[in-house]
Parts: sequence; C-alpha cells; structure tokens
Amino acid sequence: MDLHEPEVAKLPPRNPEPQVDPDALVFSAEEKERIAGYQKRYPTAEGAIMRALWLAQEKFGFLPPEVIRLVADELGVPYASAYGVATFYTQYYKEKVGRFVLDVCTCFSCQLCGGVDMLHHLESKLGVKAGETTADGMFTIQGVECLGACGSAPMMQVTNGPYIYNLTEDKLDELIEAMRAGSMPGFTSVTLPQDEDEMGGNRRTDIDEVAVYQTPPVAREID
Ligand code: FES
Repeated sequence: MDLHEPEVAKLPPRNPEPQVDPDALVFSAEEKERIAGYQKRYPTAEGAIMRALWLAQEKFGFLPPEVIRLVADELGVPYASAYGVATFYTQYYKEKVGRFVLDVCTCFSCQLCGGVDMLHHLESKLGVKAGETTADGMFTIQGVECLGACGSAPMMQVTNGPYIYNLTEDKLDELIEAMRAGSMPGFTSVTLPQDEDEMGGNRRTDIDEVAVYQTPPVAREID
C-alpha cells in the first residue's frame, strides 16, 4: 500500500445498515432530562444540537445516521440540521473509532511547522491512512483543522482530550509506545522559533534546547 498516494474522496453510503441495536437506540429518562436542559439554554432547539450530539457520542461511542436521527427527533429539529453539525466537526465520530483517536492538526500554522509530516509519520508507523483504524482497534488517526493551539505547532489532540504540543517524530514514537503500554507520557511545551534562521526551513530542530514556555500574566492590578 502506498500510504502517500492522493486520496480519492469517497461518498458515504446513502442508506447504510444500522450499526446500533434498535432496542438500545433510546435515551434514558435522565438523558432526556439533560437534553431538555440544554434546550432551555438556547433560544431555539438548533442551539442544543452540539451538546445533544456530544451526549449521544458519549453514550453510543460514535454517531452513525440512526444515532444522529435519534438526537434530531429528541430535539424536534430536522435530521439534516443535526447531520450537518455532526459531519462538520471531526470531533464527532461518524464511524467506530479506536481506543485512542489521534487528531493531528494539518491547518496553516501546524502545516508550516510540519503537521503533515507528523501525520505521514503516524501513517507509516501504524500502517493505516488518515481516517482509518489499526487492526487491533487501538488507534484511529485523522488530519484535522485548527485546534486553537497554533502557538505550539505542530500539535495534536488525543481522543478529544489532551493536547500534545511541538510534535516531533521521536515524541510521536514515545507517545505510541506509552499508549500501547497503557499510559500517557508527560511532555513540556516550548516556544516557537523566534526568527527565520532558527526555523532552518520550516521544521524546527532545536526542541530540546529552547527555554520552557512561560505564559505571561494576563491580568494586572489596577490601583
Ligand atoms: S493551525 Fe494547528 S492548532 Fe492552529
């Protein structure tokens, strides 16, 4: 398999086989109450779609069409509205995913600092392409849009949780081995290069040398 051959966009099937047992496809009374609570916070039911989809994903693990429809019906909104939100964000999983979902940012800042290289490194290491899951069900990898941590590019997120900053191939190798062993290593975030020379092209090589990043105070006392 050539991991780097251009991907041809595949349309999802129009009427896929349901993947959730119809008997299990219900919200409990407590979940319905939580969804009703979300609705009260917004002027229209559409406003609660994101929260309700999130609740459904936590319950079912992913969002196949029948789960998206369940959410739409519970909120009383058109299926297309819920489907549009679920398919816009990579944080909503439309297919079953592995135990760890590795979202490598390939948006502008991360791309300039090697985000695509990091994604390709993971593809080669794990033997799957972006959007796929390893045969052992351990890892799903995907390239994603900006995750709001451009100052620590290239970066990735693990299963909609921890951010891993300033990625290098070594750091990814360490991370994969640690996850296989059932833990998560601690990492230190460092500053971005300060000038063109330090960049040495568009990939930094001085990760270990630069100072630890200190977040400046964001508030000051007013007399
Ligand atoms: S471009 Fe990667 S976090 Fe913003």
